[in-house]
Amino acid sequence: MDYEQFARDQIKQLRETVGNSRAISALSGGVDSSVATVMAHRAVGDRLETIFIDDGLMRQDEPEWVRDAFADLGIEVQVTDAADRFFDALKGITDPEKKRKAFRDTFYTVFAEAVKGSDAEYLIQGTIAADILETRKGVKTQHNVLDQIGVSAKDGYGFTVIEPLKELYKPGVREVGRALEMPEALYQRMPFPGPGLATRCLGECTPERIETVRRACKIVEEETESVEKFQTFGVLLSDQATGVTEDGRRRFGDIIAIRCVDSEKAVTATATVLPWETLMRIQDRMYEEIPSVTKVLYDLSPKPPSTIEYI
Ligand code: XMP
Repeated sequence: MDYEQFARDQIKQLRETVGNSRAISALSGGVDSSVATVMAHRAVGDRLETIFIDDGLMRQDEPEWVRDAFADLGIEVQVTDAADRFFDALKGITDPEKKRKAFRDTFYTVFAEAVKGSDAEYLIQGTIAADILETRKGVKTQHNVLDQIGVSAKDGYGFTVIEPLKELYKPGVREVGRALEMPEALYQRMPFPGPGLATRCLGECTPERIETVRRACKIVEEETESVEKFQTFGVLLSDQATGVTEDGRRRFGDIIAIRCVDSEKAVTATATVLPWETLMRIQDRMYEEIPSVTKVLYDLSPKPPSTIEYI
């Protein structure tokens, strides 16, 4: 595929569709929404408003990183702090699909509020082919695939959704990023799911439990930086397991799974063969930096039958 041509065509189409109206981009900082935002900005310039919802489920320092990266591209990002809203919506929920639905509903409600007062008619989203495929197959409910599951964004939320990347898979999206001459740090980023750390926290997503996963993800990411992989992160399981303190007291603590996978399009995946020293360093740091942890596991499961994330 000629990705430069693809980018030119999509930018032209975006410009024609949006016309003289205004558009809003829902930027998460991931590869897909970053590429979609840059295309939309090239298409309609300052008639694009870029909104970043800080849902409290992001990786460490993510909102600041995204704001600065886009400022360098001349794109101003409006950050909306909505962490409390998401935690309220997720309160008491342990069922994975209910979590995704709660996330999606809150996302669109917060988003609709954030754009109230703006006269934008269009919503640009970075939905890709894999999202649509998996939502249609019922593998999971993606937070950004509305039409395919019969929810009208126009009736429910007031905008027409434009998804310029919906025919592409991840490698294609990265190629578009390259064709747009975006910084590599943006288009080569590791995938990160829309519902964020909620996909890596089994059981209830309280602020405390999400903070535990955030720290676990940071450790795993740092220790596998030089390893070639598709995606890597830590996961907080819902169960607890016995540990023992240095003075011999038994206690129940958190269980963290390390996930690191090789994949091309995220449709299938296999566990990365990590060096033993890397695994040992990760588990050492987990107990040291997250005192509630008593066990650390390495997840060996391929996709299928497993998925990459945990919900
Ligand atoms: P799974 O867990 O289904 O994930 O094997 C496949 C790829 O998709 C990412 N993922 C998501 N991305 N919204 C997204 O934008 C989501 O709801 C979502 N769920 C999973 C996941 O990180 C992996 O790269």
